[in-house]
Amino acid sequence: MRYETSFRLNGTPVSVSVEPSRTLLHVLREDLGMTGTKEGCTDSECGACMVLLDGEPLNACSYLAVQADGREVTTVEGLSAPDGSLSALQRAFLAHGGVQCGFCTPGMLISATALLARDPDPAEETVRAALSGNLCRCTGYQGIVQAVRSAAAEIREG
Ligand code: FES
Ligand code: FES
Repeated sequence: MRYETSFRLNGTPVSVSVEPSRTLLHVLREDLGMTGTKEGCTDSECGACMVLLDGEPLNACSYLAVQADGREVTTVEGLSAPDGSLSALQRAFLAHGGVQCGFCTPGMLISATALLARDPDPAEETVRAALSGNLCRCTGYQGIVQAVRSAAAEIREG
């Protein structure tokens, strides 16, 4: 059995026919070509699969695609401008060494985007708490935290 599932993906309406057991992560990657969203642990532990669902961070590996019906999904592909220019956060990750192998980066950017939407001037501890569901094996986190705070300052200054 398959269910027609419709939602907005990075601002564009999409409709897919999915089996009820398939995760949002797999439908995004395999049916909709959004391979920026990564598959790590598939058990809500690493944050590599994180997307925004109605503006809130969500591990897409642990969420059924059919549950997204009628909702708004944002992946890392939706964070840059339509002309491809990078967001302040994306630029800051590059500038501050917040990216090494890059596997955690989409999930980090999603969590950080949600954080800055609710807190334009987060303290270091707040950034670390907001990113606590995102694991990184490479950077030691310091560059990521600096990047988030630097982007916040840039956004505040307009
Ligand atoms: S792949 Fe979803 S949390 Fe790790
Ligand atoms: S940059 Fe490699 S896991 Fe974070």
